[in-house]
Amino acid sequence: MNREKYVNRMSGGLERSRGWKKPCNEHAPGKYPETLSPHGANQRRSRYSRLVSSTPLEALARAVGEARPFDAEAYTDEALFRLERARIFDDHWFACAPVDAASDPGAWHRASDADPRLVIACDADLELRAWFDVCRHRGAPLLPDEPKGRERALCLTCPYHGWRYAMDGSLLTPRASTGDVPHDRSLVRAEVRRHGAQCWARYEGARGERALYAPPWLVECANAPLARARSVRWEVRANWKLVVENFQESHHFSRVHPALEALTPWRRSSSDCDPSRRWLSGAMPLAEGVETVSTTGLTRGRTTIVRGAEERRVVRDAYVFPNALYSRQPDYLLAYRLFAAAVDRTVLQCDTLVHGANTDAHEFMLDEVFSFWDRVHDEDRAICEGQQRCANSRGFRPLGYDASEDGVRAFDAMVLDALRG
Ligand code: FES
Ligand SMILES: [Fe+2]
Repeated sequence: MNREKYVNRMSGGLERSRGWKKPCNEHAPGKYPETLSPHGANQRRSRYSRLVSSTPLEALARAVGEARPFDAEAYTDEALFRLERARIFDDHWFACAPVDAASDPGAWHRASDADPRLVIACDADLELRAWFDVCRHRGAPLLPDEPKGRERALCLTCPYHGWRYAMDGSLLTPRASTGDVPHDRSLVRAEVRRHGAQCWARYEGARGERALYAPPWLVECANAPLARARSVRWEVRANWKLVVENFQESHHFSRVHPALEALTPWRRSSSDCDPSRRWLSGAMPLAEGVETVSTTGLTRGRTTIVRGAEERRVVRDAYVFPNALYSRQPDYLLAYRLFAAAVDRTVLQCDTLVHGANTDAHEFMLDEVFSFWDRVHDEDRAICEGQQRCANSRGFRPLGYDASEDGVRAFDAMVLDALRG
């Protein structure tokens, strides 16, 4: 295929010139005339003025409109990243912890990398609560710097001056108060719910919808008697959108994950993309003779978590806005939470959920599942980190999507939609 045809196919038939580049100080208007050749200097000056006045959001809109991948700034611009944090993560429900976190009275669990001071807790009535571990007296932390724990007395005592709180966050005794006790006598709270095999939180004052979403197959799977067999956490030195984009297509399987390709060939995949429903889903049939995705491809007697013989032959994955990813095999579910820690750093947590009868990792040979996915995650991490390094180069000018990458396009459109509010 010649280059022109290739570009047209990849860009949905629209070949366009790139009209936007990274604004930077040395390119500021007024600095250019001396450094440009006299020919066309005015024309270039006007072009640079136009470029410098572009905002990253306009550039994202242009890329989505032209059905091509985002430019480098989408992955490197600090201002855009702050906007994403505010409008995407702080304004919506987000997956914050494993589904079984804080399930006994007095138990608490940090919602980890989103805001280490956000804690979910189980109160005396077995209700799930969420509050910030910051004393309302003068802002001391109430809990030790551990990821989780349990308050056997079913209350929290501030180690600084002794203010006490119930497990639902309400203030019990302001012993050391020398002035007025706050009118709102509780820790700053957040909403919290179990949904889609994870715990989800929503900050006070968040402007996004109150509803929570999930594809129907995930809702059904989450109703199965699931138990957590393992949780792992790792970091990717790449922007969070690169991580989701990578998850949204299987086009890379044959080169990046040959072992995964052998079990679920990418050419047989299909997708279900409707950004208005706040989730994107994909399906991949298992190759003939393969029972599940693992180093051996065998289920080893593990109980299925999927109804129907036909459905057991399909692996399904999903992205649920803004930070949850899923991969469902016939006998286990991977539930991921992604946290955008910095413009070029993403933290991932992944729970492996199996049928409640199969939690004995040794008996059910779960190592075959764990080691398989550890390798796949490593392979994806290396690819995303490579892209992030390239995003810092002037050579980063992606041409277009492959036809099979409709999930990536749908995700990019979803991001733009959320940023526009
Ligand atoms: S800061 Fe907590 S009681 Fe003073
Ligand atoms: Fe991958």
